[in-house]
Amino acid sequence: LDDNLCLYQDFWVYSPQLKGVAEFQNDFEAFDSDILLSTLPKSGTIWLKSMAFAIVNRARYPVSSAEHPLLTSNPHHLVHNVEYYQSFGTCNSLSDFVSTQYSADTSRLLATHMPYHSLPESLKSHTSSSKIVYLCRNPKDNFISLWNYLNKRGPNITNPFPIEKAFDLFCNGISLFGPVWDNVLGYWKASLENPEKVLFLKYEDLKKEPKSHLKKLAEFLGFPFSVEEEKGQVIEDILKLSSFEFMKSLLVNKEGSVNGLGFENKIFFRKGEVGDWKNQLTSSMVERIDGLFEEKLRGSGLVFES
Ligand code: A3P
Repeated sequence: LDDNLCLYQDFWVYSPQLKGVAEFQNDFEAFDSDILLSTLPKSGTIWLKSMAFAIVNRARYPVSSAEHPLLTSNPHHLVHNVEYYQSFGTCNSLSDFVSTQYSADTSRLLATHMPYHSLPESLKSHTSSSKIVYLCRNPKDNFISLWNYLNKRGPNITNPFPIEKAFDLFCNGISLFGPVWDNVLGYWKASLENPEKVLFLKYEDLKKEPKSHLKKLAEFLGFPFSVEEEKGQVIEDILKLSSFEFMKSLLVNKEGSVNGLGFENKIFFRKGEVGDWKNQLTSSMVERIDGLFEEKLRGSGLVFES
């Protein structure tokens, strides 16, 4: 993929992000109210960030407001991934960064792609009430989204990255913050062991039943919708604000770029569908990836249906 990609604690990461990864792991002290949003790249990170941001901040930013931050900011600017903190702003350490980003009057929202086993102990501790939400996606769609992204993500990508080569790497476990199966299984097992701490979500389920999952997310995060809210518009407003079509149509996501990362915001919104792999994978690729995940997930109780 890239000379900068290295294996750290059994997962793949770009070397410029190692500092953020190590600082998060070693120096970060979680508050009980902290919320960590965890995903593999291209599994719906931006979607989860927008829903969680709207839920947690709705007292401060009413979701029907024309001034809502999600209307003028890409969600990556509102909830940063800890491993990329050096790319945003001018902080020298992750703790400086975290303290400048979040106010104390509500839960801090943080995001990461790191696997569960490498998260800071204070976040994972059973005695703290901080929360972890994991969103994953059918590996075939995750791969297709990743491959499309790799081909668009920056000015230095001039030639298309051949799909066969990308697929081979992916199936050999070489992908950002992967192997994918290890990343997914780490959170899956943690959610079974401690469902109060870790909520495990699938992209496909959210697509199928957005409303019930939004309510579940709000409850899990400790910001359940009140009876009055249930009767009103707020749930529908959040669903709209975080929907693919709406987010993609916003000027900020059509024309802006993620400062510091050098990517245009529009590359985070491609098709937003379940099953696009059917248009892009050959039958032998499907056979290989299905067999691989069948083997890797066997006995775990976790299955991807699409
Ligand atoms: P596709 O490439 O399949 O379209 P991430 O946010 O982790 O980078 O994931 C990006 C993927 O999520 C892309 O998938 C993107 O189109 C999709 N996506 C972005 N916003 C979404 C939303 N609000 N709802 C559903 N999918 C969304």
